[in-house]
Amino acid sequence: MTEKVAKLTLGDQTFDFPVLQGSVGPDVIDIRSLYAKTGLFTYDPGFTSTAACDSSITYIDGDKGELLYRGYPIDQLAEKSSYTEVCYLLLYGELPTKAQLAEFDDLVTRHTMVHEQMHYFFRGFRRDAHPMAVMTGVVGAMAAFYHDSTDITDPQQREIASIRMIAKMPTIAAMAYKYSVGQPFVYPRNDLDYASNFLHMCFSVPAEQYEVSPEIARAMDLIFTLHADHEQNASTSTVRLSGSSDANPFACIAAGVACLWGPAHGGANEAALNMLRQIGTVERIPEFIARAKDKNDPFRLMGFGHRVYKNYDPRAKVMQETAKKVLDILGVENNPTLQVAKELERIALEDEYFVDRKLYPNVDFYSGIILNAIGFPTSMFTVLFAVARTVGWIAQWKEMIADPQKKIGRPRQLYNGSPAREYQSIDAR
Ligand code: CMC
Repeated sequence: MTEKVAKLTLGDQTFDFPVLQGSVGPDVIDIRSLYAKTGLFTYDPGFTSTAACDSSITYIDGDKGELLYRGYPIDQLAEKSSYTEVCYLLLYGELPTKAQLAEFDDLVTRHTMVHEQMHYFFRGFRRDAHPMAVMTGVVGAMAAFYHDSTDITDPQQREIASIRMIAKMPTIAAMAYKYSVGQPFVYPRNDLDYASNFLHMCFSVPAEQYEVSPEIARAMDLIFTLHADHEQNASTSTVRLSGSSDANPFACIAAGVACLWGPAHGGANEAALNMLRQIGTVERIPEFIARAKDKNDPFRLMGFGHRVYKNYDPRAKVMQETAKKVLDILGVENNPTLQVAKELERIALEDEYFVDRKLYPNVDFYSGIILNAIGFPTSMFTVLFAVARTVGWIAQWKEMIADPQKKIGRPRQLYNGSPAREYQSIDAR
């Protein structure tokens, strides 16, 4: 097979750049030698055309609306796998055997407790702090509690840090929730699976155990699976960039949590439910559609549109079905928010503005309805996303650390400020 080459012509000079092929997806032009050869940089704010790494974890075909974890379609994993099985797949590349899964589950379960002193750390926060603010602080603080797994050059320490984060994130998230509602922290239970244990830590109180419904636990598990990884999104790229300086894994994941918080990223599930409630009734939908289309109005349909998906987000499909199931199980009939969501989706998908721009519902459009029905306040939605995405961040971070080609991330810029000028003393300004 002849190697593909991209030719760049600058004035009367032509430069060749190799074109690299992945296993699937678009080829990429390898421009690593661009600056050395031409003295030029590329300009790509928002990385709309830039592959920042090579990875074998997750693949998205945005036009087809396809999402694969290690080659497996998300809808098959959502239907057939548990979240910890998916964690194993993302971390180690293959689906586990029964014995491997049992060993992995046991390992994760036995790391769910957090250092007792972390309880005091929590108490330094105001009770009304947003749980994501608490998460950002506490996850970063893990580096102070688990010194013995911060040496990133030691594969064993990297492994322990990974398991610790996957195991302790639900505990920390549940503590953030309990703290915000003024209830005592609930310790994890080793007899429960990952999702059930999380629900137990969130909703049990010393006076009364929370009866974990298997169907609700399954829905929670599914939500975790759907959010587990999404290739080089903003928070994952943040984790990779942080990790490229050899920062410890807890600090890197804390950086990912901070990035995820933004409403254009993980914060969209909270914003989507708030929007659906603000719309309130089906009759008011046209008013909001008009606002979303008005270029002078900053309002956007939250839970709609995606940088990569130019088709229905495959996670949104599973989410919509799950929303219906969960509401049925909980006996919530004719939920007005679900009605508004479905009708809004129907109208938007027929509207020229949304059709032309290929704007479809994304994962966040329906997730809030499910989480709210389970009993979580909106402020916890992004926290749950962070719990689920932790495995993706870690898998991507581990992949990068083990890559012999790893380099510190250091983008360049198109400078538009003042050229060099003489300093003026304060009296002369
Ligand atoms: N409502 C109305 N118009 C929209 C929307 C929307 N939700 N999203 C994009 N557009 C329009 C946008 O105004 C632009 O129109 P025009 O070409 O006329 O200027 C066009 O569609 C392209 O938008 P863009 O902002 O250039 O696209 P992007 O790839 O930079 O942004 C996005 C992607 C997800 C930030 C954006 O679609 C958005 O803000 N959506 C709402 C927030 C949201 O739901 N985020 C969750 C994303 S999925 C989960 C996650 O990644 O965390």
